[in-house]
Amino acid sequence: MDRYAVIGHPIGHSQSPLIHTLFAHATGQTLEYTAIEAPLDGFAATADAFRAAGGLGLNVTLPFKVEACAYATEVSERARIAGAANALTFDGPHCRADNFDGIGLLRDITTNLNQPVAGRRVLVLGAGGAARGALQPLLAADPERLFVANRNAAKALDLVQSFHALGLGQGVLAAGGWAELATMGAFDIVINATSASLTADALPLPPGVFAPDGLAYDMVYGKGLTPFLRQARAAGTALLADGVGMLVEQAAEAFAWWRGVRPDTRPVIDQLTVPLT
Ligand code: ATR
Repeated sequence: MDRYAVIGHPIGHSQSPLIHTLFAHATGQTLEYTAIEAPLDGFAATADAFRAAGGLGLNVTLPFKVEACAYATEVSERARIAGAANALTFDGPHCRADNFDGIGLLRDITTNLNQPVAGRRVLVLGAGGAARGALQPLLAADPERLFVANRNAAKALDLVQSFHALGLGQGVLAAGGWAELATMGAFDIVINATSASLTADALPLPPGVFAPDGLAYDMVYGKGLTPFLRQARAAGTALLADGVGMLVEQAAEAFAWWRGVRPDTRPVIDQLTVPLT
């Protein structure tokens, strides 16, 4: 049987086996998709063993996304720009790496949530791997403004400078710390790409950053109303979303890349959605 897996550490919480099994049933594909926990210093050896046993592709999650890029023999442009890969495909000695996280986020926002990015003001909170992966697809969707705010402002400025150095985002993409947000007015789309929701930390956001008819999007999933989403609701934001749609959309991209058939994401998103209460 064709074999795929998600590799990470820890991996127990991963929904990927369920998502890909639902996709396989819905599209009539015969495959096995499991979860593999690699030792922290054993990503390459674990991936090698999976390939040697006939594995065809891997999804990669924390903390191996950067290492997965270095492991591959061919890296897509978007994975290179993101500095990380979340999917690998194997063909003999070749290993191709791609990153579908950003495109998954964009599809969820524009298609599932019906929120255009073009011509709108977009705020990304955080400057780690999750934020970096979101920037190129967001820029490609042509926002009026894309601002990256981070607790550590220097890290956000470095991130944005690395994009400018690649010729990306001039005149649109800028960065700063929390303090700057108070002077910047409202954003139509506010995306929380920090890991603060995992520890239930609130962010020091001025209520004015949320446009009343806008979207507040938390990349974490399955945690109900996070402090960030509560802040957005208290500020009167019309539309709140967590990252379940991004998770399912990135999985659908990987599935289509591996299998040549695109699954319908709606039923799987509905099955995995935890109400925002
Ligand atoms: P990931 O790959 O998930 O993005 P990361 O690279 O460790 O993880 O980045 C985590 C991000 O969340 C960083 O932007 C971090 O801010 P700092 O760069 O200032 O550390 C942000 N973050 C984590 N916990 C936070 C909190 N409690 N408040 C604000 N920002 C937080």
